[in-house]
Amino acid sequence: MKNHQIFKDRRKRFLLELNGSAAIIPGASLVTHHSDCEYPFRQNSDFWYLTGFDEPDAVALFLPYRPEGEQYILFVMPKESSEEVWHGFRWGIKGVVENFDVDIAHSLDQLSEKLSGYLYGSEHIFFRIGKHPKVEPLVLKFLSEALDRYSRSGALPMGLHSPCSILHKLRLKKDPWEISRMREAACISSKAHELARQVTRPGMNEREIQAIIEKSFLDQGARGPAYSSIVAGGENACILHYTSNQSLLKNGELLLIDAGCSLDDYYNADITRTFPINGKFTPEQKALYEIVLAAQNAAINCVLPGENTEKVHFRAVKILVEGLIDIGLLKGEADSIIEQGLYHHIYMHRTGHWLGLDVHDVGAYRLGEYPIPLEEGMLLTVEPGIYISDLMPVPEGQPKIEEHWKGIGIRIEDDVLVTKDVPEILSSDAFKSINEMER
Ligand code: GLY
Ligand code: MN
Ligand code: MN
Repeated sequence: MKNHQIFKDRRKRFLLELNGSAAIIPGASLVTHHSDCEYPFRQNSDFWYLTGFDEPDAVALFLPYRPEGEQYILFVMPKESSEEVWHGFRWGIKGVVENFDVDIAHSLDQLSEKLSGYLYGSEHIFFRIGKHPKVEPLVLKFLSEALDRYSRSGALPMGLHSPCSILHKLRLKKDPWEISRMREAACISSKAHELARQVTRPGMNEREIQAIIEKSFLDQGARGPAYSSIVAGGENACILHYTSNQSLLKNGELLLIDAGCSLDDYYNADITRTFPINGKFTPEQKALYEIVLAAQNAAINCVLPGENTEKVHFRAVKILVEGLIDIGLLKGEADSIIEQGLYHHIYMHRTGHWLGLDVHDVGAYRLGEYPIPLEEGMLLTVEPGIYISDLMPVPEGQPKIEEHWKGIGIRIEDDVLVTKDVPEILSSDAFKSINEMER
């Protein structure tokens, strides 16, 4: 396994935070696609963050109250050549001990027998309920038995808590190694976007461009797409989660591509570019593109320590709304339009999200009433857009949209790192100025 020390350091921090409590962190299981065919395996990000172990169904225990050498336990599938001949290599128990710095490894089929012994002596249990149907009954059984023992033991019954509060705070701030992986994912993805833009011509199909961009991810050594690539020509771009990617690319329309790769170690990019299919913007397309780009630049300039994602969002909204008023697609005073949400028929999503091992990465955006302040090492997308279609009704009092604006969907999305001063745009290898988007 690569980068042992990274995972070791994370476990050390996690064990410290757990104090006298146990954590049970299950990995992901294979998911059925249909019949007996499965989707490619995707490890659970919390489990990966702590273990770097990429097999299905494993379960990790973190037991800081146990002596050194018994604090990190992994239950894994045992080696079995009759299984490996179908499904591929397994590390097995010995392999895990020798290669993954675990204190003790067991076969998965011993979990139910051994779990209560390991959890005994824990102050609380950290386990995410509702997500791990194979492991949850074992945890609940243990807690129920602890309650049964209460009258005899006199020990206070344990509490069951989610590990998210600890783990997701750790995952929110990226360390230098994680940042270098995110740079790599963004760099590969930016190059794939550029390639796709250069080869796009009227008459091609959306799926051809999808193939080109995803081949480029693989050619450059990525695991594959981080999420279903959106390759949306013309008015398809107004469907935010459009993934059917089956339409012809028409002369005079725009193409919106929202695609990013995932690396072997699951670090992701999430990038959107929109450009004219024939290489030249129409006046309407150019006017709207300029507004989105200005909104994005202004929002990126807010990605600074001490600011927050609300500020980033509303900076983008302000520029979008002012631009839309200037060209007559909104009417009234910008602040009042924003306050009443009278722009939601044109811009209906947030301007970004945390990015990391998950594309919509973990970590709180608010603490009650208060937005979480940005800190060096946090990483987010900045992705304003304008979508003009008949899908959303025009609010009362706002101008009816003339036909020549309709069917235009534009989003520009970059991956942005909070540094101590100017924000670093990890996806800057994908061009986005008006001049660069034209041929
Ligand atoms: N690609 C999903 C998103 O932009 O959030
Ligand atoms: Mn995004
Ligand atoms: Mn995206």
